[in-house]
Amino acid sequence: MLVDLVLAILHHLAVFVLFAMLAVQLVWLKRDLDLQGLRRVAKLDIIYGATAGAVLLIGVLRVFFGLKGWGYYAESHSFWAKMAAFALIGLMSIPPTMKFIAWRKRAEGEPGWLPSPAEIRSARMYLHVEATIFLAIPIFAAAMARGY
Ligand code: HEM
Repeated sequence: MLVDLVLAILHHLAVFVLFAMLAVQLVWLKRDLDLQGLRRVAKLDIIYGATAGAVLLIGVLRVFFGLKGWGYYAESHSFWAKMAAFALIGLMSIPPTMKFIAWRKRAEGEPGWLPSPAEIRSARMYLHVEATIFLAIPIFAAAMARGY
């Protein structure tokens, strides 16, 4: 009972932090990004990835050590829809992460070089897609918690 409560609290906190980071990344990823801004976005992206890992770990712990157990979730369509949405967000986060790493490396190696507005726009597009899929997850979560 206490384990379930603690995991539920951690899950909610990690999920809110994850979404906040995605929103901050969108705000920081501006058209006129300088080297300092680029470093900041790249650093935030690493923390975003680590937080997503924490959400996954806590989520898996909830599945196995929560009150309902694996059997309940294994048969839940909304659980699998939620997992698919989470995996899709993970996939969508790969291209921007690769871009941030490459941009930072290039900007540090070639003084004066910065990503073009078109490149920044393309990275932002992936983040927008992630944020949109993210909104579906609490819907699936509420459904799965109630046996749909
Ligand atoms: C961005 C990712 C995620 C979001 C936004 C999210 C959101 C939520 C929310 C809002 C709830 C509460 C549902 C309710 O009680 O009405 C919940 C519950 C839960 N989540 Fe997640 N979640 C995420 C990722 C995951 C992952 C990756 C897993 C498992 C691998 C997971 C497993 C669970 C479990 C087991 C519950 C408990 C449901 C129940 O009470 O039966 N979540 N999630």
